[in-house]
Amino acid sequence: MLHGTGGDEQDLSKIASYLLPTSPQLGIRGRLIENGQTRYFNHTADGSFDLNSLNSETDWLLETIDTYTEQYHLDQEKMIVVGYSNGANVAAYAWLTKRPRFKKAVLFHPMLLTPTVDLPDLSKISIWGSHGEQDPIVSKTNFDELMQSLTGTHADVSIFEHEQSHNINEPELVSAKAWVTAHI
Ligand code: MLT
Repeated sequence: MLHGTGGDEQDLSKIASYLLPTSPQLGIRGRLIENGQTRYFNHTADGSFDLNSLNSETDWLLETIDTYTEQYHLDQEKMIVVGYSNGANVAAYAWLTKRPRFKKAVLFHPMLLTPTVDLPDLSKISIWGSHGEQDPIVSKTNFDELMQSLTGTHADVSIFEHEQSHNINEPELVSAKAWVTAHI
């Protein structure tokens, strides 16, 4: 579980329990604090995404996931990432730029953080992603760009859109659960 800005490792636990009631859960808290809020990577002084921080913190996150999955004897290839906002963004970025060992994800309201030049082959990866039409953080254009990039990697991509904002709503959870049930 990868939380949104200002969240912690427990935030998505209820949602994860709804999606997969009997599965073990692993939550990793972003180790950065910006304006008093936890995050997985920083912004620069001018407010744009700090790509150096994004790069090194994604490495940290993947190493941390490796460490805990080994420690708790969890098979990372079977795990499903559940990410929201900042946490979903970093999971998508990891797939586009690194070699994470996880293969499936439910990404609530993710965005493309930086354009990807050389798309990797993600043909063994399955991703469900959601977007809200009135989201002030993630534009429709940005979300579509992210989904197109992921589709371009040959990942199996499913999209859920609602007419609301950056929030997770009930039909969205039902859609995510149906996807998870079909992908385990
Ligand atoms: C980010 O910083 O990753 C995005 O703006 C989403 C968020 O606010 O966490």
